[in-house]
Amino acid sequence: MPETLTVTDNRTGKQYELQISDGTINASDLRQIKTSKDDFGILSFDPAFSNTASCRSAITYLDGEKGILRYRGYPIEQLAEHSTFLEVAYLLVHGELPTKVRLNTWINNITHHTMLHEKGKKLMEGFHHNAHPMGMFVSTVGALSTFYPDAKKIDDPETRMLQVYRLIGKAPTIASYTYRNSLGLPYVYPDNSLSYTGNFLNMMYRMAEPRYEPDTILERALDVLFILHADHEQNCSTNAMRSIGSSNADPYVSCAGAAAALYGPLHGGANEAVLRMLNDIGSVKKVPNYIKKVKNGEMRLMGFGHRVYKNYDPRAKIIKQTAHQVFEVTGKNPLIDIALELERIALEDDYFVDRKLYPNVDFYSGIIYEALEFPTDIFTVLFAIPRTSGWVAQWLEMVTDPDTRIARPRQIFTGPEKRDFVSLEDRV
Ligand code: CMC
Repeated sequence: MPETLTVTDNRTGKQYELQISDGTINASDLRQIKTSKDDFGILSFDPAFSNTASCRSAITYLDGEKGILRYRGYPIEQLAEHSTFLEVAYLLVHGELPTKVRLNTWINNITHHTMLHEKGKKLMEGFHHNAHPMGMFVSTVGALSTFYPDAKKIDDPETRMLQVYRLIGKAPTIASYTYRNSLGLPYVYPDNSLSYTGNFLNMMYRMAEPRYEPDTILERALDVLFILHADHEQNCSTNAMRSIGSSNADPYVSCAGAAAALYGPLHGGANEAVLRMLNDIGSVKKVPNYIKKVKNGEMRLMGFGHRVYKNYDPRAKIIKQTAHQVFEVTGKNPLIDIALELERIALEDDYFVDRKLYPNVDFYSGIIYEALEFPTDIFTVLFAIPRTSGWVAQWLEMVTDPDTRIARPRQIFTGPEKRDFVSLEDRV
C-alpha cells in the first residue's frame, strides 16, 4: 500500500502526491499547491493545534478514545501503584526506569538542589500576603534564571541536567513558601532526610516541632497525585514550554511560561475552580439545578471534559480511589458526595454523553487537597510541582531534537489592504 495521499486541487485540476509518514502529512508539503507562480501555497488552519502534531515525542502516550495513558510505555495505573514520584520523574527525563544505584544518585542530586537562594526567599517575601500562589510561583521560577546564568548554555548536556535537578528540586520549596508567605509564617528549610512529598509537607506545615514527621498514608497519597500529574504530552503548558524553549531561552523562563499557561482555569487552574464550584453548589440536592444551568450554557461543569479524552480520564479513576484512602486518615470531605452526585447525573445525561464529557484529573484532586488542608488557591501550584518534571523532560527532548526550529506559526491575515497614512487633523 503506497504511503501517500493524492490531492486534487479543483481550482486548477492539478494533482499532488503527498508523503504520509507516521500517519501524518508534512504541512509544508501543502505549500506546493498553488493557483499561480506568485501564490503563497496552501496553509493548514488549526488555531488550537487540534489536529496538528507539533513534534515527535517518546515520552507520554495518550489514547483519549480508549482512556489510555502511559509514560515511556508504562501504564499510569502500574506506575501509580508501584512507583514513586521521583522514580517516575527519572523515567520521564531519562526514558528508562532507574537501577537502584541510578535512582539513589538521582534522588541525591534532586535533594541537594531543594534550597532556594536566600535572595529568592527575599523576593518571595516582597509579595503581598494575599498574592495568588500561582503568580508567586510563576515569578519565582522565572527569577531563578537570574540566579543561574549558566542555564543559558542549553547546548551543554551537563549544564542542562543541572537545571533539571534544580527545577525539580526547588519546585516544592517555592510552592511551600507561597503558602507560608500568605500566612506570614517563617519559611521552613528543606529536610533532606525526608521523601520528596514528605519534605514538601514538612516545608508547608512544620511549626515549632524539632522534626516534622509526615503521615505515611498522606505522604504516599500526595506522591500518587504527583505521579498522575507528572506529564500529559502536548498540552497547553507543555506546548508553552517547548515554544518558549525553541527560541533557546533558558529552562527557567521557559518553565515560568509553562506554569503561567497552567494557571488558567481551562487547564491546571480547573482544580481550584472545581472546589469553588462544589462549595457554590453546597449540597447534593442542589446538583440537578446546577446541571440544568450547565446544560443551558450558563456555566461549565468544571473538572469535566477534555480536549483529548473522550472517555473516563484514567487519572481521575485512580484519584477517586486515592480519595477514599485519604479520608480514612483525615475523615471524609463532605464535598465528595456532591462530586459523586454530579458525576452520576452527568454520566447518565444525554448532554454529557453526546459530547463525551467525563470527569478529568481535576475533578477529584481538589477534594483530596482540601482534606490534606491545602488552601484552595494553592491547588494549581500542587499541579505545577510534579508537572515541572514533565516540562523539563519535554524541554530536554525538544532541545536535542534535530527537527527543532523556533516555533513560528503562520496566520490568515484578516486586516485591511494597504492604505495611506492619514494625518491627525484629517481623521474623522
Ligand atoms: N461543561 C459543560 N459543557 C462542556 C464542558 C464542560 N466542562 N466541556 C466541554 N463542554 C461542551 C462545550 O460547550 C461544547 O458544546 P457544544 O458542542 O454544544 O458547543 C462541547 O462540549 C465541546 O467543547 P469544547 O470547548 O469545544 O472542547 P475543548 O476540547 O475545546 O475543551 C476543555 C476542553 C477541557 C477546555 C473543556 O472541556 C472545559 O472547559 N472543561 C472544564 C475545565 C476543565 O476541567 N479543565 C481541565 C482539563 S484536564 C487538566 C488539564 O490537563 O489541564
